[in-house]
Amino acid sequence: MVHNPFSLEGKTILITGASSGIGRATAIECAKMGARLFITGRDFLRLEETGKMLEGNGHEWKVADLSERKGIEAIVESVPQLDGFVPAAGFTRLLPIPFVESDELNRILQVNTQAPILLTKGLVKNKKLNKGSSVVFVSSIAGVYSVSPGNGMYSASKGAIQAFMKSAALELAAKKIRCNAVNPGLVNTNILSEGKLTNEQLKARKELYPMKRFGEPEEVAYAIIYLLSDAAGWVTGTSLLIDGGFTLQ
Ligand SMILES: NC(=O)c1ccc[n+]([C@@H]2O[C@H](COP(=O)([O-])OP(=O)(O)OC[C@H]3O[C@@H](n4cnc5c(N)ncnc54)[C@H](OP(=O)(O)O)[C@@H]3O)[C@@H](O)[C@H]2O)c1
Repeated sequence: MVHNPFSLEGKTILITGASSGIGRATAIECAKMGARLFITGRDFLRLEETGKMLEGNGHEWKVADLSERKGIEAIVESVPQLDGFVPAAGFTRLLPIPFVESDELNRILQVNTQAPILLTKGLVKNKKLNKGSSVVFVSSIAGVYSVSPGNGMYSASKGAIQAFMKSAALELAAKKIRCNAVNPGLVNTNILSEGKLTNEQLKARKELYPMKRFGEPEEVAYAIIYLLSDAAGWVTGTSLLIDGGFTLQ
């Protein structure tokens, strides 16, 4: 057999937001690397579609709304013992500051920030993360390396999860649990196709990327696989920037 320190063979991994985009691509690629997946999302049909795309056997999926406490509790209760956790669910809402409303702000913070924190808490408290586990938060360049007008709520949610990641890395090191983040620039997923940015705005944004293209979900998935794997055994508390050079300028 070929030596592969990036293999996920024998590992069980929980991925939220697996019904679409980066979460879906991560689930598919992790299964190809030998992992057994427990995936969650809000939309049953899209989640089931991901489930059917996974190589190998023994994968499970569960519908859960992460803006609700009971959704978070249901995931913690039903997951098996884990070796990896990737909270990938998230969304953005572009609103200039005068139009920010507390309901919308709460929803973004609930899904992008509170859910990953409370899921981590639930998994740790219930001893669901095995020794040697890896948690990979899906942060962003937004709120960490750069900001853009109208994206303040999202930037706040991602900056906060980045800070939590570092704190969790320090606190959970004694339990041999590693915590890291990936920080993608713009990636071709629903987030881009939902009409939040016009075609003209997307074209202008693309020009700002040195490689003149956005990322692909698989390009983020491969970085997540590295951080989940034993190849990253001494890597904790760090962030992996994946932005085609956008933040160099
Ligand atoms: N695409 C980018 O440019 C980019 C860049 C940097 C970071 N990110 C981050 O990457 C992560 C994945 O985003 P994506 O681009 O892959 O977007 P996406 O294709 O829209 O996928 C978002 C995922 O989050 C789930 N989700 C949203 N709200 C939820 C809720 N209340 N409860 C449970 N699940 C919920 C969705 O579930 P359903 O589809 O089932 O509703 C979906 O699976 C997010 O955290 C995002 O902030 C994205």
